[in-house]
Amino acid sequence: MYSKEEQRKSYDLSKQLLTANVDSRSLSEATTLVADLTAALKYNEWRYYIIDDPQISDFEYDTLYKKLEYLEKHFPQLQKNDSPTVRVGSDILENAVAAVPHLTPMLSLENSYNADDLMDFDKQIKKLSDLPDETEIEYVVEPKFDGGTIALVYENDILVRATTRGNGVIGEDMTHNAKAMRSIPLRAAFSEHGLSKVELRGEALIRKDVFEKINKQREANGLQLFANPRNAATGGLRTKDANETKARCLEAFIYQLGFAENTEGVQVVRNFNTHYESIEFLGKLGFKVPKSGHETTICKNITEVIAFCNAWQEKRDAYEYEIDGIVVKVNELNIQDQCGYTSHHPRWAVAFKFKAKQATTRLRDVEFQVGKTGAITPVAKLEPVSLAGVTVSNASLHNQDFINAKDIRIGDQVLVERAGDVIPYIVKPLSELRDGTEKIVQFPELCPFDMTKSVKLIREEGEAAYRCPTCTCGRQDYQKFVYHASKDAMDIEGLSKATIERFQQLGWLNTLADLYRLNYDAISKLEGFGKKSAENLEKAIEKAKNNPIQRLLHSLSIHQLGRKAAKLLAAEVETVFDLSTFSVERLTSIKEVGPILAQKVIEYFTNEKNIAVLKDMENLGVNMTATAEDRKIAQNTEGVLAGKTILFTGALQQFTRETAEKAAAAAGATLSSSVSKNLNILVVGEKAGSKLKKAQDLKT
Ligand code: IVH
Repeated sequence: MYSKEEQRKSYDLSKQLLTANVDSRSLSEATTLVADLTAALKYNEWRYYIIDDPQISDFEYDTLYKKLEYLEKHFPQLQKNDSPTVRVGSDILENAVAAVPHLTPMLSLENSYNADDLMDFDKQIKKLSDLPDETEIEYVVEPKFDGGTIALVYENDILVRATTRGNGVIGEDMTHNAKAMRSIPLRAAFSEHGLSKVELRGEALIRKDVFEKINKQREANGLQLFANPRNAATGGLRTKDANETKARCLEAFIYQLGFAENTEGVQVVRNFNTHYESIEFLGKLGFKVPKSGHETTICKNITEVIAFCNAWQEKRDAYEYEIDGIVVKVNELNIQDQCGYTSHHPRWAVAFKFKAKQATTRLRDVEFQVGKTGAITPVAKLEPVSLAGVTVSNASLHNQDFINAKDIRIGDQVLVERAGDVIPYIVKPLSELRDGTEKIVQFPELCPFDMTKSVKLIREEGEAAYRCPTCTCGRQDYQKFVYHASKDAMDIEGLSKATIERFQQLGWLNTLADLYRLNYDAISKLEGFGKKSAENLEKAIEKAKNNPIQRLLHSLSIHQLGRKAAKLLAAEVETVFDLSTFSVERLTSIKEVGPILAQKVIEYFTNEKNIAVLKDMENLGVNMTATAEDRKIAQNTEGVLAGKTILFTGALQQFTRETAEKAAAAAGATLSSSVSKNLNILVVGEKAGSKLKKAQDLKT
């Protein structure tokens, strides 16, 4: 529909128009601007609705939309009857399946972005419904689900039709797919409440963790990955094959009773006094609706609405589904009636949009850094862009495979995403915008930091990262100290990156143990330090010495040993040093420990230098013994073997030792390596030897 050249031009035009001033324009200037804005909006609608691949954020789209609206208001003669402002967006694909009209149009929502916008919305509601300024309007708040919109029609209690939103007036038939979705009842007792025909509105979604699994499976099957849960959901609604819909585990949240008719054929949505009641009613009939007190609640006034929106902005990433804002609806249906509708949206509702997590910007350069395990990691240097309220100019590029798979080139316009506190990452380059000046990222063959410039980087089998095998420049050690002190590891407050660098330069930090023998007197004399901060640092380091060993294990920068695995390992030992006796089999019998991690743990704990540093730390007072916390956390406290220690000896007949041990651990048991009084269960296989004998001896 748009050639590559047209796409590039339309994108540039959209970006330019974002900063264009629309105030005090002459008619001829306004004419050009209206034409440009219309073209830009149409292009971005095509990207969003038709090819599911937007290039600008919702906020940017709205900015363009509002500029066009403003000009059309001041120059009504310029408003065309096919202007984007006079119609709702469309998701109808060419060659669509059967088109079905909705019982009432499915409109969009007006967007708001901050507390001021919400206050304005509240004022507007009072104006429209002729209520005094000091009235408190009651609102219902719900997540703005980011999936595929659906409409369900029930006649005489039976689901007769399901459609997508389409262009808001006409939708696409997807009844066969709706029937494959477990959360959509095929029959619901509307007739018991005097209703013979209803249309419900809602959103079909895929849970984030399910989405990850689906994509992993697709990767394993060599299929193209879905960009996000929304694309997977909208695709799942439109597919001709209902088995595919089923496989995507779509769930339907119902958020609106759109239309209802009683047995006499009279429209009766107003049977209820409030929106909240209508949703509660649907919940009771067996529909999946936002959970009261969690996903939805009644707010007594707009101040409570603002607090709800802010709270959800924070917990958005932890929520199971993708949401892009909160929908705020006037609760009283009478007031809704008084507010009415525009051709585009209801005046009684507004979407509070979260700060965009995605934005496009230019990749200026790629730099290389040394990680804590010596991995040389490429870092994207971006033109600064605002993402979820923070200015971002760096993004992780992981490794060469990541760059190659996404074909990311220097100079590309790239789509960047930032979720919560996670480091921003590049979702994809906008390759359709390339003009030929972009450069392939050259990965160094030699360590870029080694003084001799002669150390070849190596890539171990099965690994994505290139590493510097020697690292004499100190960068690797620096990263190790930073990681050791970080919040999730030893959590040493006040030991900043700059301090670590400075202590390193002063020659005070060579091994991790050196951190625990710092001379605080000398520190207090350093410029910018003083007695108080030296004392605080000492306190923080003394405190860290008593950490549970799961923190210590996590802090050692053992490749692939994350927080979770550290917890699991800590629960298996008496002291950290026990790990030097563990075999690959023993380690991989621990749930979540794979062969690579097992190998890395063995390498670490059989290396004499590492053991010497740990002993040194122990002598300096760092705890090496498993604490109650280490034992508690990793265990399944509900399994049938919870709280029991178990040991397998001899050859088992039906399982391998490894399988049996894994099953026991999964049921909550602690695996033991020797017979002692504390052992609860000894499983004796064929040809059991000394362990059985010892157990028998202990019993007598
Ligand atoms: S109410 C007439 N409530 O947002 C009222 N919409 O731009 C219109 N959406 O695609 C919608 N969650 O599917 C409403 N809790 C919610 C929603 C919601 C997501 C979607 C809706 C539509 C878009 C509106």
